[in-house]
Amino acid sequence: MTKQVEIPSLYKKYEPYFDIGAAVNVKTIHTQKNLLCSQFNSFTAENEMKPELLQPEEGLYTFESADQIVTFARENEKNLRGHTLVWHNQTPNWFFEDKDGQVADKYTVLKRMRDHIHTVVTRYKKDIYCWDVVNEVINDEGPELLRKSKWLDIIGPEFIERAFEYAHEADPNALLFYNDYNESNPEKREKIYTLVKSLIEKGIPIHGIGLQAHWNLTQPSTDEIRAAIEKYASLGLKLQLTELDISAFTFENRRTDLLSPTAEILEQQADRYDRLFQLLREYKEVITAVTFWGAADDYTWLDNFPVAGRKNWPFLFDENHKPKDSFWKVIQF
Ligand code: GLA
Repeated sequence: MTKQVEIPSLYKKYEPYFDIGAAVNVKTIHTQKNLLCSQFNSFTAENEMKPELLQPEEGLYTFESADQIVTFARENEKNLRGHTLVWHNQTPNWFFEDKDGQVADKYTVLKRMRDHIHTVVTRYKKDIYCWDVVNEVINDEGPELLRKSKWLDIIGPEFIERAFEYAHEADPNALLFYNDYNESNPEKREKIYTLVKSLIEKGIPIHGIGLQAHWNLTQPSTDEIRAAIEKYASLGLKLQLTELDISAFTFENRRTDLLSPTAEILEQQADRYDRLFQLLREYKEVITAVTFWGAADDYTWLDNFPVAGRKNWPFLFDENHKPKDSFWKVIQF
């Protein structure tokens, strides 16, 4: 019998730097259990704590799936991030409608927001140390700062401030994050900075910025990532990478014929992860966690998205949960 090589633990190696997290769901806490417990010290529910899953109808809370994830984190003594309270997606229409199906008034919608935030944050107070309070409200392109949404239409821009205040009321100890994607794009970076700066100036309780970090083999560049970290850190808040994955394809690449990653992809990905984690380690004073949006290549939301019929391999561990070259680059320094 050949002796198995002992695989070092990523989260243990990174203890002097930041948490190493993974998004999990009610399936992967079983199918990836060993990997999750040995390599990660923080979890985020992939979908189970989004409004449509927690409160599908007004006053009808469905906590079963979220509870399973909370129990898994608690039993394995892992940190848990909450994701997410206020978002334009995966939020049921009833939040925004009156009983006749017409647009509800501002005060009704604010009350619903407050009830939702209070109920959810209070329930998980002992288990969840930080929340993505507001997700993705910045407009990607054009002069408008805020994305068009029902929250914005009905309540106006103050919905963002109220969300943070309600979360803070419900759990004054929770660390409250603003979370967004394309966060290293220079144009969007400036807008995120402007929003968060205005919240701080108004005394709104906000403690961190989540850089989703859905990236690929070439974009954004390391320089753009560094510039984003510097800019956000200048606000004096903590930063986390909240949804990291490195797609095996560049944005332009639409090929669907691959059944497994080529040697070239794996090499490029390892080099990318290597440079990325070197950079992240430089900023350990401001970065408190790096969470992957999954754990291993057997399951990723990038399968079939945005290209139908295409598998993806964005993580440090392969489909059999074995370390890829990327893993060794990140852990050997
Ligand atoms: C966004 C959300 C996540 C998730 C991803 C795609 O980044 O914040 O919750 O839905 O999209 O999986």
